Amino acid sequence: MGDPLRHAAVAQLGGSPRRRYYRGRDLARAVAVEDLRAITHRRMPRFVLEYLEGGAEEEASLARERGAYGHWRFMPWQLVDVSQRTLATALLGREAPMPLVVAPTGLNGLFCHHADTSLAQAAATCGVPFVQSTMSNDTMEDVARVPGLRHWWQLYVFGGDEVWQELLRRADAAGCEALVLTTNAQIFGNREWSTRTQATKTRLSLSSAIDAALHPRWLASTLLAHGLPAFSNVVDFVPKDRRGFFETAFWIREHQPASLSWATVERIRQRWRKPFLLKGLLHPDDVRRALDAGVDGIVLSTHGGRQLDWSVAALDVLPEARAIVGQRMALYVSGGLRRGTDLLKALALGADAVLAGRAVLYGLCAGGAAGAQRALQILHQEALDAMGLLGVASVRELGPGCLRAVRDPGPCEQVPKGGTRRSSTSPAGDAR
Ligand SMILES: Cc1cc2nc3c(=O)[nH]c(=O)nc-3n(C[C@H](O)[C@H](O)[C@H](O)COP(=O)(O)O)c2cc1C
Repeated sequence: MGDPLRHAAVAQLGGSPRRRYYRGRDLARAVAVEDLRAITHRRMPRFVLEYLEGGAEEEASLARERGAYGHWRFMPWQLVDVSQRTLATALLGREAPMPLVVAPTGLNGLFCHHADTSLAQAAATCGVPFVQSTMSNDTMEDVARVPGLRHWWQLYVFGGDEVWQELLRRADAAGCEALVLTTNAQIFGNREWSTRTQATKTRLSLSSAIDAALHPRWLASTLLAHGLPAFSNVVDFVPKDRRGFFETAFWIREHQPASLSWATVERIRQRWRKPFLLKGLLHPDDVRRALDAGVDGIVLSTHGGRQLDWSVAALDVLPEARAIVGQRMALYVSGGLRRGTDLLKALALGADAVLAGRAVLYGLCAGGAAGAQRALQILHQEALDAMGLLGVASVRELGPGCLRAVRDPGPCEQVPKGGTRRSSTSPAGDAR
């Protein structure tokens, strides 16, 4: 993704015509998530983009998230009546217009003011659930007021048991429909590119600060107007002298017990009677264990490539996970979704739904709630059109028979700098 000439480099176009993504202000002219991403890159300062885009270390997990989609190609059926198509499905037993969920993301207040509420509004308008992060900036009680919202709460365990118990109590009181416990971020991923934008833990580097100053619209609508956002849902658990923006984030990281285990899952299960999902599993052993733990579903995920590097992608383990869980619990994936065709591939490989992170955040950064809604609309329309071209009319018809694994990874796979896709699949570089 990213370079609009990436197809031209290997195909017959030879670099001409010159292509550009749309980067202007008219959201209706953003025809793909990649346009929303291009707008985001124009509007946001570098340190914010590093936070949004970056992965851990070599970013091999991050690259694999997109690359995994590239290994599957569709096998379309023809002459099928696809005049009545629908992506409608059930999510945790309730109807939804499409099998998509807005993934939990923390620090959204860096992108714009009241970002969590804006994401919730977009999700509610499109009829899909919004998972609010423990590290969000709007209070869960405020977000819960968004009309028609399906509100799920994502839990990071930190501090003593009394902290998660209080957060669960509040989530229940606020009407949250489901709890999503993130299991793969107790130790913070080594996101070097993000770290490089900082001079110290709590201060931007000079060049990052200058770059931020060169984005006056972002500066005016976020920091100058409202100051650094607060972690409103958790700040009361943090000692008074550590309540600055960066300080709170670091204090919480330092107090996330690396001892988090299935015993904690059991204790949470006993307290939270509504749907309970685990997010961050990949290993088939853990998928089996989740069944035994009596949770209602799992989200296969590498945390958007931000935690353990050189990990398999969620999509890589999806068919095996489906074989294990059967129909006994909900099975979701998260990571790398940028297109409607990605959604169809994930569903065909066994997912009940996909949690979309950056795709929706690009919309948010490009245009607040309306931009996030535009991202969801684009994904919905792309998926619906692709279903028709594939020759299926409903998500129930999607299965492994729709796909073939291919060796040519296609445009999603990263191309090494200076190389061509052909040389990347043929180490000797011959042009067979
Ligand atoms: C900026 C950012 C912040 C995130 N914060 C959280 C978080 O607070 N809790 C969580 O469980 N996952 C978090 N994630 C992971 C997402 O929930 C999701 O799994 C991931 O973004 C999926 O990959 P995608 O962005 O390619 O869709 C975050 C991801 C991003 C990009």
